[in-house]
Amino acid sequence: MSNPSTENTTVHRQTALGIVAMVGVLILGCASGTPDSTDGSSSPNGTDGTVQDDSTDPTFVADPTAKFDPLSRPESPTLSPENFNSAKDCAACHPTHAAEWATSMHAYATVDPVWRILVDLRKAEFDGAQDQMCVQCHTAIGTRGGEVVPGFSWDDLSDISLEGVTCEACHKVSGMRRIYNSGHELDETGPLRATIEDPVANAYHESEYSELFGEAKFCGGCHDIVDMARGLPLERPYEEFLTSPAAKAGRNCQTCHMPTYTGKAAIGDGVPERTLHRHRFIGAEVALDESFVPDPEVRAMLREEVDNMLRSAAEIKVEAESVRAGEQLDLFVTVRNLIDAHNLPTGSTFLRQCWVAITATDAEGNILYQTGHLDEDGDLRNYWSTADQFGDPDLIEFGSRFIDETGNPTVFPWLAVEHISSTIPPLYERTFTLFVPTEADTVGPITIEAAVRFRPIAPFVLRAVGGGALVENLVITNMDEIAMTVEVTD
Ligand code: HEC
Ligand code: HEC
Ligand code: HEC
Ligand code: HEC
Ligand code: HEC
Repeated sequence: MSNPSTENTTVHRQTALGIVAMVGVLILGCASGTPDSTDGSSSPNGTDGTVQDDSTDPTFVADPTAKFDPLSRPESPTLSPENFNSAKDCAACHPTHAAEWATSMHAYATVDPVWRILVDLRKAEFDGAQDQMCVQCHTAIGTRGGEVVPGFSWDDLSDISLEGVTCEACHKVSGMRRIYNSGHELDETGPLRATIEDPVANAYHESEYSELFGEAKFCGGCHDIVDMARGLPLERPYEEFLTSPAAKAGRNCQTCHMPTYTGKAAIGDGVPERTLHRHRFIGAEVALDESFVPDPEVRAMLREEVDNMLRSAAEIKVEAESVRAGEQLDLFVTVRNLIDAHNLPTGSTFLRQCWVAITATDAEGNILYQTGHLDEDGDLRNYWSTADQFGDPDLIEFGSRFIDETGNPTVFPWLAVEHISSTIPPLYERTFTLFVPTEADTVGPITIEAAVRFRPIAPFVLRAVGGGALVENLVITNMDEIAMTVEVTD
């Protein structure tokens, strides 16, 4: 496994021009569109898409020495992992919920190899002072239960902790103290809660209605992340959601990520048909480690659901007028975030890649122009490319970047003092102008193929942290694509 400071040396060497290229993308990325909703102008992240820092919240002050947090990273255990039951126990009566959850990223949360690699690197960086930080949400049971203490090793995790965000990590939530950094209260011996108002009694557990389970803040408690050591917000879908059109319309995370269906919530006498909620938690990716979902049919089904989700999220339009041979063809490229609830992308935006790929070819198949094409290592030709670092000056990316204290980009959140975002707020669009050169002898028509593409993590990041073996499992999805022709006149 390579060490982050080794990676950093490379970064310094590449600096000056890389930053120019990146700033270029950010300037190009200025919002030019307006949202559909009348009040959408008050976008949570500002119209230029830059993440504003949350310094108004006093708890977001950087404190690299703060080892503990009484709620989510306690110094001594506040619960017993033995009081939590395995998802396997639920399967007897809730087979559908259990089977769906088992393929979800929630079940993957502590076995995820990329997560484990990053946790180990970060532990080394702070020399024990921050070891619980990255585990507090991925397994709240293990972190609050005394298994994840400064200096812990993976072997210390019990079976229930290895279930990650398991059934009872959610269904024993009894309240919220804050809507970020594992802000839930866990009632370890309490009833299992959700939104069934009149649950049929069963011999295994008590049930209780809780309106919290039908609210976005329930999800926000783990999905909004602040690195307290740096005082830096890392992920903020809930915060983005708060002022979104979806929130105003009374919808929430569950509406899209836990879609409803009709069925019986449990096997048991007298259990009626109800409106139920899918537990696959489809988002932007399928587990990279294929052994997590070994059945190829199930994997293909998940792939399709994730692809459908991604395709519902973005739209690309290109406008161009006919051009005289030898002149420059202007392309106006507009990308719109179709999600009315959070930015595109959201969550781990610093890992994700979302970009515009365009190829212009003349009638004889000669490539006149390309952007968003990959280099020989499968990386985008940007700052981080080893093979062709300056090969794509027009590259349009939506995501975020960390800047370290020397002013250089870094892939490691814990080296960051700044988090710069070019994500697109809900229902916003951005327009970019690109220039395609033609020659005097260019034969028309010119074909323009354009796509917004997504992949969950960049190959260079996987290689940089020692997870290069997973690169071959990466899938690129075209979120939207179009083709058009432009006439060439003499
Ligand atoms: C012996 C069968 C049985 C087992 C085992 C079981 N449940 Fe249930 N559970 C039920 C029944 C029956 C209901 C009520 C369904 C209804 O009324 O539609 C229920 C309801 C629930 C509810 C809804 C509560 C509400 O009011 O909204 C949750 C959440 C739940 N179970 C979670 C779990 C979890 C998590 C496990 C495993 C740790 C589990 N159950 C194990 C039978 C069982
Ligand atoms: C506040 C709760 C929380 C904390 C703290 C947290 N995570 Fe996560 N982590 C999440 C959530 C939620 C996601 C899913 C986000 C998404 O998919 O966009 C996630 C996703 C990830 C992923 C992506 C997994 C994949 O397969 O793509 C990695 C890697 C990761 N976290 C690493 C870390 C590291 C490293 C830290 C410590 C700096 C950390 N997490 C701290 C909640 C948390
Ligand atoms: C106890 C913490 C916790 C809670 C509560 C929680 N999540 Fe998550 N969620 C996570 C973590 C951690 C991951 C990422 C695991 C990984 O990839 O390693 C995740 C991943 C996801 C993903 C997959 C994202 C992707 O990249 O594909 C979706 C979708 C999701 N959560 C939706 C929800 C919704 C909706 C809710 C509320 C009903 C919710 N989560 C509540 C911790 C939580
Ligand atoms: C209108 C439907 C909709 C609602 C409501 C919604 N999402 Fe999403 N979400 C999507 C779509 C579509 C994607 C896939 C595109 C993307 O990654 O941005 C997605 C992706 C995600 C991801 C994965 C992002 C990544 O690239 O790693 C997370 C995490 C997530 N949503 C969390 C949430 C949370 C938390 C809420 C509530 C605060 C929420 N979503 C509300 C539609 C929705
Ligand atoms: C990330 C948190 C999370 C995890 C993990 C989770 N659930 Fe749920 N579950 C929910 C939420 C939220 C609802 C209610 C959704 C709503 O009403 O909008 C729910 C609803 C339910 C219900 C009520 C019926 C329904 O579909 O609405 C049952 C039963 C249930 N879950 C069982 C389970 C079991 C069994 C597991 C593990 C195999 C599990 N859940 C894992 C969040 C979770």
